[in-house]
Amino acid sequence: MASGFELSVRDDQRAFFEENGYLALDAITTPDEVAWLREIYEPLVEDARALKLRFETTRSDGTPGIISQIFSPELMRPELLQTTYLANARRLAGALLGVGDEDVRYGGLMLIHKPAGAGRDTPWHQDEAYWDFPSERRSHSLSVWMPLDDVTVDSGCMQFLPGSHRNDVLPHRQPVADGPEPLVLDPPVDTSGAVACPLRAGGATTHYCRTLHFAGANTSERPRRALTVIFHGPAELRDVPLERPWLRKA
Ligand code: NI
Repeated sequence: MASGFELSVRDDQRAFFEENGYLALDAITTPDEVAWLREIYEPLVEDARALKLRFETTRSDGTPGIISQIFSPELMRPELLQTTYLANARRLAGALLGVGDEDVRYGGLMLIHKPAGAGRDTPWHQDEAYWDFPSERRSHSLSVWMPLDDVTVDSGCMQFLPGSHRNDVLPHRQPVADGPEPLVLDPPVDTSGAVACPLRAGGATTHYCRTLHFAGANTSERPRRALTVIFHGPAELRDVPLERPWLRKA
């Protein structure tokens, strides 16, 4: 849904991202677009044609914990590529990655749904650990995550470890032999300095591809409906190839 809202990125926001590896924004799209996205969201999550992953576990209180991830929802709803959200996420990517528009490449859209009272947590991870790219590639990329519901710590807002983007990709592990389950850090990392980013619907957080991040279970009465999109800047070549044994199927 096109609108006149063109995000501009301030110098202090660029500096914050460079220093911390993440940034929160009050708004990345319009209330009208949030309303439209809410209308089309549930049918997309339920669509049998959707390429999806559904993670389900039993939480400590005995209730189910669920995350549904819908990949490439634009295959069912091409209008998603014409949204103010996506146009502004692309502008944000260019500004924060420090690259011109022609060097920002779309890396995919995904819906991440955690149902009310039954959303499971997303363990601490770096996005680049999940990407099955050639081992010589060092990504220069970011993700822009937007909730369609107000989010708090207890509904699973994003949490970041400031400065962690300066690490390389850390060792991760597939926690269940017959996976897939969300990856976990192995060994674990001290995340006591984590910063939670509660947001209003239509706000956004963005994080670099090596920023450590986490989202808690959704124990609230509200669904946690979110979209996330990746944009890649030009990748670099690694001196030492990065092996990702955690992505190999047993
Ligand atoms: Ni992630």
